[in-house]
Amino acid sequence: MHTDLTLALIIGSVRAERFAPVVAGWARERIEAHGGFDLDVIDLADLSIPASLDGSGDTELLRRRVGAADAFVVVTPEYNHGYPGYLKTAIDSVLAEWEAKPVGFVSYGGLAGGCRSVQQLRTVFAELQVVTLREQIVFAGVWDRFDEDGRLVDPERHEGAAKSMLDQLVWWGRALRTARQEKPAA
Ligand SMILES: Cc1cc2nc3c(=O)[nH]c(=O)nc-3n(C[C@H](O)[C@H](O)[C@H](O)COP(=O)(O)O)c2cc1C
Repeated sequence: MHTDLTLALIIGSVRAERFAPVVAGWARERIEAHGGFDLDVIDLADLSIPASLDGSGDTELLRRRVGAADAFVVVTPEYNHGYPGYLKTAIDSVLAEWEAKPVGFVSYGGLAGGCRSVQQLRTVFAELQVVTLREQIVFAGVWDRFDEDGRLVDPERHEGAAKSMLDQLVWWGRALRTARQEKPAA
């Protein structure tokens, strides 16, 4: 079911020793298997976004890519009960390009699997008029969830959740694109 919706997969961890590529690699595979979207992988580690929010560096590039997307999946870890600071800088660097689009979350970490990061991101995205999906994918104790080849040890549960989340993204992505075409978000 291809929809001609563009989905931006945003990788929110930029740490040198990050585990993010494993989780994001799984998310990318699920998005491609779903088949509903053209995919743009935005790895924040590849972009230079200044904390000064002065629009320099790769800010314009990020704005364009967010603007071209109809839906988002944010992959985020949890650091000290919050999401990465660089992810916040990236979110704050983009303005109206976020508006009236849906976002789903894939989170990972220790005991809480990044749930606290996602709770915080939901309030941030509400301010930007981004619709946050109820369905989310959580990898608690993430180090034990994947084998050495980056494959999920117990795939069924998470694959079902991924399918539901992506189906919801299609529904919201279409509905909000139609609404944006009729009239810009208020
Ligand atoms: C500075 C730091 C703080 C962390 N704090 C938490 C935490 O509060 N809760 C948690 O579940 N995991 C925590 N972790 C574990 C991370 O979620 C885990 O290492 C994850 O792999 C980090 O993502 P990354 O490797 O892609 O950067 C922390 C890790 C780091 C480096």
